[in-house]
Parts: sequence; C-alpha cells; structure tokens
Amino acid sequence: MLVNGKHHITIWTEKKYPSIIYTIDQNLLPHKFEIIELKSSSDIISAIKNMTVRGAPLIGVTAAYGIFLAAKEAYAKNLNINRFDNYIYRKSEQIKSTRPTAVNLFNAVENSLNQIYRERTKVKKVEAAFVYAKYLSDYEINSCRAIGKFGLNILKNILKRKKDKTINILTHCNAGWLGCIDYGTATAPIYFAHKEKINLHVWIEETRPRNQGAGLTAWELMHNNIDCTVITDNAGGYVMQKGMVDIVIVGSDRTTFNGEVCNKIGTYKTALAAKDNNIPFYAALPVTSFDFKIKDAMKEIPIEERNGKEVSHIRGLYKEKIINARITPQKCKVRNFSFDITPSKLVTALITDKGIIKPDVRIIKKLI
Ligand code: MRU
Repeated sequence: MLVNGKHHITIWTEKKYPSIIYTIDQNLLPHKFEIIELKSSSDIISAIKNMTVRGAPLIGVTAAYGIFLAAKEAYAKNLNINRFDNYIYRKSEQIKSTRPTAVNLFNAVENSLNQIYRERTKVKKVEAAFVYAKYLSDYEINSCRAIGKFGLNILKNILKRKKDKTINILTHCNAGWLGCIDYGTATAPIYFAHKEKINLHVWIEETRPRNQGAGLTAWELMHNNIDCTVITDNAGGYVMQKGMVDIVIVGSDRTTFNGEVCNKIGTYKTALAAKDNNIPFYAALPVTSFDFKIKDAMKEIPIEERNGKEVSHIRGLYKEKIINARITPQKCKVRNFSFDITPSKLVTALITDKGIIKPDVRIIKKLI
C-alpha cells in the first residue's frame, strides 16, 4: 500500500538468495518511517520478539526468511549434512519461541523445515528455504487481495441500505497491510471499497497497551487517504449504541475449527458490544491463520502475556523523542494479557481468501 504516495510492502529482498531481508521498523511508527535490515537468524528472532515486525501473516513470512538465513548460516559454517540440519532445527526452535499466539509463525516454520528436509544437498536446502519464504510472502499478498474482493461485496450490500451513502467501519488493533505483506486482512475490503470510490469512514480502537490501532492503523489508513478517527477502546461500545457503526471487521491470529477467533486483546469486548447492538462482526483472515489442530480455544490457544511495563507505562513522542511515561503508582501490580478469544456465537462470518464462511465446524473443515 502507499506510504507518502509510493507503493510499499512490509518485507522484501533485493535479489535471489540474499544476505539482507528488508522490513519496516514498526516500533518507530507513526513517528518515523524507517526501513531496517535483518542480516541473520538472530536479527529475525529479535525483530519478532520485540515487535519490530508484528501481525500474524507478517510474523509467519519473517519466520520463513529466518529459516532461510539460518540455512545460509549453516552453509557458511561448512557443517556436514546432519549438523547442517541440526543447526537449522535449533534455530527453528528459537524462532518458534519468539511469540506464542499467531499460528502463522508455527505453520511457516514447519512448512519451511519440511521443504528443507526433502532436499539431499546443502545448496538445494538453502534454495528450498528461500523459495518457500518468497512463496509464502506472495501467497499472503494474494490471500489479502482475495479477502479484499470478498469483503468488498459485504460493504456493497451495506451501502445499498445506507441513506447517507457512507459506510462506518470499526476495527481493532492493526490488521492492516503493516501486519501482513500488502493490503491487510481487516483493511483489505476497506482499500478495495475506497478504490471503487465508496465513501467510508473507519473508527479505530486505539488498542491499549501498545496502541497498534492509534499508531499503526491510523498511520496506514491516512497514507492511503482513508477517512478515519481514533477512539479509545472503551468508546467502541458507545459509538455502536449511537448508530455510528455499520460493521466491525477485525483480524485474527488464530482461528479454530469451531470458528473461535483469537485476536488482539479487547476484540472480545468489541464483539460483545457489536452483538448487543445488532452490528455485524466479521473476522478477516487467510487460511494460514487457521489452527486445525485445536479443539477448545480457551484451553489450548497459548495467550501471550507480555511485559507489564507496556501496561504501567505509555509510550509516545515528546519533544521529538520517543519516551515511556509511567501511568500507574510505582510498584503497582500489572498484568499484560495480549490476546483474547471471541466465541463463534459472536462472529457473523469469517472473510477468508477462500470466501465468506460461517464460523461453523462443518464449513471450516472443508477448507483443509
Ligand atoms: O500483537 P500484534 O500487534 O502482533 O497483534 C496483531 C493483531 O492482533 C492483529 O489483529 C492480527 O495479527 C491480525 S492479522 C494482521
């Protein structure tokens, strides 16, 4: 999508079998747009851990490039084939331990390892890791494009009944192109509708504690000329009660067979408010964000709990410097639950790259 009028994606390389993976430092946004270089599997591990890169599809693709860099490192060490595979395996375990919730990370690592293990020579293994990372990146772009097209039909249907001919969409966190490779998941229908000159306005819940809504979604929508307004997480219910929201679209980090949607903390409360106000609530996700192994989301999805400092302190720009200001009493106990689960009874439908589907086990099973 556009940044200062120029098309960007979130992760790329400049040549085949490169030594550098380029990405955007999301920790500096919205204050500074900076491209950074990831040159080793350790750089990849830190980037996912400290959320330089974030968002389920982008985490998956970054992890796949991490396996590729690990394969290159193993190659440079001139290890025998068993130790070569072991080195990559050890790195893959470290990559998997960076963040627990987005299933894309685990799927990407497993799939990449399978491609590597299939090959017999070290050169072929390095090649296979690169080909998979690039394939996954392109796959995610195409998936988001498909989500955009399917979601556009939903927005067009809403438009038919709107007297003022403006659709108000509410979203949470950043399920935008920044969290993916291009287009985004929740934002893809918005970008497609905007392209068709449909009038729309987006309410963005700020998404405490890291404020990906306020900092990232607002930034990317504004760069793409989408009318948007940031509200506090607590205000979502109020704008719904006031009839100022036509549809809620969020992303997902992991969705189960039963259509339970795990997404950024606060999504569940937004879904409850939508239900109470008869507002359709959609989760937009590529098939890579489904976890077909999990049966009971509440019991089985590992919910990330991040550093409490993200709750006790607030990050922002002050006199041209990014600072962390404390907002709780000193030594106050805090917990930082980072994701929650929205039960399928609160989900109108899932907008996937394979079509719009009900959050129902019989339908989701057909996706495998
Ligand atoms: O902790 P984050 O910023 O990685 O969380 C991101 C989200 O919750 C998004 O909604 C998500 O990954 C959806 S897909 C872009």
